[in-house]
Amino acid sequence: MDYLREIEGKRLHDRNPRLHDRNPNMMMTKSSRCICIPGPIIIGAGPSGLAAAACLKEKGVPSIVLERSHCIASLWQLKTYDRLRLHLPKQFCELPLMPFPEGFQTYPTKQQFIQYLESYARKFDISPNFNQSVVCAEYDQVLGFWRVRTVGLKKEETEYVCRWLIVATGENAEAVVPNIEGMEEFGGPIMHTSLYRSGGVFRGKKVLVVGCGNSGMEVCLDLCNHNASPTLAVRDTVHVLPREMLGRSTFGLSMWLLKWLPMRLVDRFLLIVSRLVLGDTARYGLRRPQMGPLELKNLSGKTPVLDVGTLAKIKSGDIKVSPGIERLTRHTAEFVNGKTEKFDTIILATGYNSNVPSWLKEKEMFSVKDGLPKRPFPNGWKGESGLYAVGFTKRGLLGASMDAKRIAEDIEKSWKVEAKHISYISHPFSLQ
Ligand SMILES: Cc1cc2nc3c(=O)[nH]c(=O)nc-3n(C[C@H](O)[C@H](O)[C@H](O)COP(=O)(O)OP(=O)(O)OC[C@H]3O[C@@H](n4cnc5c(N)ncnc54)[C@H](O)[C@@H]3O)c2cc1C
Ligand SMILES: *[C@@H]1O[C@H](CO)[C@@H](O)[C@H](O)[C@H]1NC(C)=O
Ligand SMILES: *[C@@H]1O[C@H](CO)[C@@H](O)[C@H](O)[C@H]1NC(C)=O
Repeated sequence: MDYLREIEGKRLHDRNPRLHDRNPNMMMTKSSRCICIPGPIIIGAGPSGLAAAACLKEKGVPSIVLERSHCIASLWQLKTYDRLRLHLPKQFCELPLMPFPEGFQTYPTKQQFIQYLESYARKFDISPNFNQSVVCAEYDQVLGFWRVRTVGLKKEETEYVCRWLIVATGENAEAVVPNIEGMEEFGGPIMHTSLYRSGGVFRGKKVLVVGCGNSGMEVCLDLCNHNASPTLAVRDTVHVLPREMLGRSTFGLSMWLLKWLPMRLVDRFLLIVSRLVLGDTARYGLRRPQMGPLELKNLSGKTPVLDVGTLAKIKSGDIKVSPGIERLTRHTAEFVNGKTEKFDTIILATGYNSNVPSWLKEKEMFSVKDGLPKRPFPNGWKGESGLYAVGFTKRGLLGASMDAKRIAEDIEKSWKVEAKHISYISHPFSLQ
């Protein structure tokens, strides 16, 4: 932190700033401290933020990372279930500049992935400022700088000022909780998958799982393996694909075929093989969308489900499939087909969304509606006035890595020019 300097009275041209005061009592005072950062600020210490920091570091550009949680990769460490593995084969999930260790299986476990991220942060000497929630970021037209305001655990405020702002808060920042009629009335626990760890605590219970994405399907399987009785409530259509086809990963095979064939044809191929391997999923209550899986993904971002064994349990009747929920009562769920059933617990596998609109005061780059960049892939990573986005392409870790590399190259150019002007700020302190 010794390269951070406090600037009193928010005057950026103060050439005699004092060192950032570490006295914790100072931090209690609400006279919000103002810290000038010579390099970019990255918001979020997930895989995307770490990748951006590493790529910048490699180009000789120092950055700081602000993270609301007390650890890196908080989504993976604090909000995922125990049995989680990467959904895609490992070669599609590496961050830039550092491959996975030799020993990792094709689908690394959550623990392995977290270990990898921790050694990644160590290797590139990334030490985020933890427990700092960004509550506001705004471009100051007059000064030509971004002002980023954070709130710590004791409600202490800090203002950071910087030239470049990299948004890495993720597509999965906040749990989406749907509004189901009668929710307050329901007597048992209702929890989002971000709080679900293992089916062990649901042994013998009737559990209604709402939402049939990868998480919902996998939670059902986990419940089944722990002798609970899950029912999957499916409102929308969904593409379920086998995780492997013809001895290769379905994802890898699709990417490869797309090099030679148009997307529609690859979709046809995927659907034919899926039909042969899985049968007609509509028979089990999982109707397919009109559009093919890759086209739908490209157009709407909706990810196909890669089956890891759930479908077999649906076929055997261990997991039931119901239509969407009409309303809940104290002990039951009533479905849109009029049927009613008793449940002990409800698990919401209803996904996540971006929180960018809640803190970024900017209207050009990010859509207020979904908190994602408005410009379609691959052009969403760069905005105006030194604003960047990493990890918002709906293309997982691979997409985040691409963003991170582009951003680092772009900032490197202006850094070399600007560093001359602001070198007095960094000198003589060593930069990260
Ligand atoms: C169950 C599950 C499985 C997945 N499996 C895969 C997979 O196999 N392969 C793949 O490529 N992708 C997968 N994904 C997608 C996943 O989103 C990415 O793997 C990855 O976590 C995205 O990284 P990120 O850094 O963009 O976002 P995140 O990992 O969400 O990190 C964002 C960070 O920003 C912090 N933050 C948010 N708001 C603020 C704020 N206002 N102030 C300060 N900090 C803030 C958060 O605390 C968090 O630490 C999976 C997702 C889930 C939920
Ligand atoms: C962040 O908060 C946690 C408690 O939630 C605490 O254990 C940790 O030391 C804090 N870290 C920093 C860097 O303040
Ligand atoms: C994918 O979507 C983009 C718009 O987001 C579109 O321009 C492109 O043509 C689509 N690709 C295919 C192969 O349909």
